Formats: sequence, structure tokens, C-alpha cells
Amino acid sequence: MPLTGRRIVLGITGSIAAYKSAVLARELRRRGAEVRVVMTPGATEFITPLTLATLVDHPVYSDFTENRDAGTWTNHVELGLWGDLILVAPATANTMAAMVQGQCDNLLLAVILSARCSVAVAPAMDLDMYTHASTQQNLDTLASRGVMVIDPTEGPLASGLVGRGRMAEPEDIADRVEQWFKNNLPWFGQKVIITAGPTHEPLDAVRFLGNRSSGKMGFALAEALANQGAEVHLVTGPVALPTPPRVAYRIDVETALDMDREVQARWPAMNLGIACAAVADFRPSETSSAKWHRGDMPQAIQLVENPDILWRMGQSKQAQQKLVGFALETGEGTSSALSKLERKNLDAIVLNTLADRGAGFAHDTNKVTVHERGGNCVRFELKSKRDLAIDLIALWTPKPNA
Ligand code: CTP
Repeated sequence: MPLTGRRIVLGITGSIAAYKSAVLARELRRRGAEVRVVMTPGATEFITPLTLATLVDHPVYSDFTENRDAGTWTNHVELGLWGDLILVAPATANTMAAMVQGQCDNLLLAVILSARCSVAVAPAMDLDMYTHASTQQNLDTLASRGVMVIDPTEGPLASGLVGRGRMAEPEDIADRVEQWFKNNLPWFGQKVIITAGPTHEPLDAVRFLGNRSSGKMGFALAEALANQGAEVHLVTGPVALPTPPRVAYRIDVETALDMDREVQARWPAMNLGIACAAVADFRPSETSSAKWHRGDMPQAIQLVENPDILWRMGQSKQAQQKLVGFALETGEGTSSALSKLERKNLDAIVLNTLADRGAGFAHDTNKVTVHERGGNCVRFELKSKRDLAIDLIALWTPKPNA
């Protein structure tokens, strides 16, 4: 679904075309978008909030106050920050004039005024209102401020007149929205699988072999890629981290075998794979479904090798796929990282050494060197994992038309 992970605030204003907003909301959802609906008081005269709430599976916002008795209110700033795009469809002459003036006497206008994301309008009105100089001037002003204008089409209007003023068809509006994301997000249309966190290899009902990986680096990469439009599949071992915004799929696993199964099933459809997980190389050959008690503990624990997930991805990698691994070394580590780059058939390997202060497991910061196939080497200073994630993905951003 092309709009998976994308967040759209659908603003509906008081026009007869508001009935088409229901179809538009459904179409955006069908394409994978998350949709929040904000209606002006006028819009609720044309279509009920209940219809929209049902279609987008979320309550509709139409008033500053949510519950007058309790004194709760809708935070327009939060809504304005939540969205990737505010789409006002239908947009009346009145709402567009208010947008030009910077008015905010209803919730939708307040959301628009406080939003940091882009805004699109799909005007709908009668022929003479649309062609009026003030409406045309307002449209020009909005366009000059970067608002995307989805032009109305020609046809019979509610007044009985025939001409331009009909809101564009919901399918066409959704196409324009999709195109807008394509033009504005460098990773739009790209599918990325990321492994993150540790794996836990059970010994008995309560104990496991594991490691100290926090998952923070993998989650930071997932967040950065999702923010830039990628459809992210985040396969993670046990971690205490919330799913980053816009991540399309989070798959929680426990063991290396589970992680391998999930990754290999998804990998053929991906454009990029990033193996950030600290996968346990070994697992106990036998696990007890009961808890071992003192006295019945085994004398020794036999280990067997786990699959090398990244190596297996490298073996089946297609020409159009890119694959990135991580190497955590305790010493200098360059030659070991370079040999992993070769052995696992990677396009790049990110080396962090535990010898560097603030690098590696559990920290919020990391310091890495990226070795690329072909010999290129890029060094990054110590920085937060979130900042580093943004720098790293800039190295792998797909070229336009590539
Ligand atoms: N990796 C993996 N599956 C494994 C082990 C490692 O996918 N079973 C991935 C890690 O996510 C990382 C990379 O391989 O991207 C390097 O991990 P590392 O443990 O250093 O690789 P090994 O080949 O196991 O290296 P070593 O011989 O040093 O243990």
C-alpha cells in the first residue's frame, strides 16, 4: 500500500462536496494512510462526523472543546505536528479566504495555522464564486506560500450552473497526494527491513542467553527512514522501546531462529536491508519447558550454532537490493569489519568499537565508521543515535529514477 505509514489530516469544510470526503477518506485509508479528520461546523451540516469516524476508525475533531463539562479540549498544535500533510477537501471560498488572512476561529483553521507540515486544498464551490477575483487571488496567494492546489473540475454544479467548481474526484485527489509524497520524500516507495535489539535464547521456562543490546540504533534508523517515506519492516528482539512514528510494521521476535524466519520471508520484496541486531550466535541445544530448580540444573549446557541471518540475506541478494551490516568490535576492528563486508556480501558495514567512549550498546550516542564496497570510508564523530541515523541513511538515499 503506497501510503502506508503516512499521516494525513483531512480537513472538511462546509460544501455539498463534503459527501465525497467520505469516499476520499476511505480511499486514503485503502492506500495505507493513517487519517485524522477535522471538520468545520459548516461541514457537519453536510455529513455527519460519525460517518467519517467510522471510515477512518478514529474520532473526528470538530470543536475546540471535547467535553465541556470535563473542561477537556482538542490540542490543535499536537494535531498540526502529527500530520505529514493537511489536505482540505472540500475547501470552500470562505476557508481559503480565512487561510489567507491567518484567521483561526475554528479548530481546522487553528490546526492549519499551527502546523509545520505542508497543506493542500481541493476547492469546491459554485462557478461564479470560483471565478471571482477575490477567490482567484486567494488561490494565488496560497499557492505562492507553498500550498498545493488541486484544481476543481468542470461539470454540473449543485446550483444548476455548469462550469468549473466541482471538487476533483476522490481518486484523483488521492493520486495527487501520492505524487506529492513521491516528490517530497526521498525514500517514498522504498521498502526497508531492519533487524534490531538482542535475541533471547531460552534455557528453561524463565532463563535465557542474551546480550546487552538496547535496540536504540536500529530503532533510530527505523524512525529516520520512516520519516523520509520508507515502508519500514522493523524486526526486533526483546527491547523496551516504543514503535517509532510512521514505522509500517513492527515484528517482535525472541530467538535468532524466529528473527531469521521473519527476515528471510520478507527480504525478497525489500530494496534495502540493515542488520543492526545483536543476534546470539549460539543457542542451547535443548531447552526445558519447566523451570530448572537447584539440584536438577544440567552440569553443562551444550550450544548449537544459530543461522547467520545477514549472511543468508547476502546469499540471496538481488542486483537491485542493498545490504548493510553492523560490526561491533572490542578493538580497532577495521580488518575484521572488512572481512565481514566480503564474507556476507554486503554493500556497506558500519563499524563501532566498544573502545570508543559513548559508542556501542545501551548508550544514546554512537561513534562509527562506514566502510563501503569499493573502498570508500566515511567516519562520523560521536553523536546521538538519532542524529547518526539521519547521517547514515543520507549515504544510502536512492538516486532519483534509480
Ligand atoms: N548477524 C546476523 N546473524 C547472526 C550474527 C550476526 O544477522 N547470527 C549480523 C549482525 O546483525 C551484524 C553482523 O551480522 O549486522 C555482524 O555481526 P557479528 O556478530 O559481528 O558477525 P559474526 O560473523 O558473528 O562475527 P564474529 O565472527 O566476530 O562473531
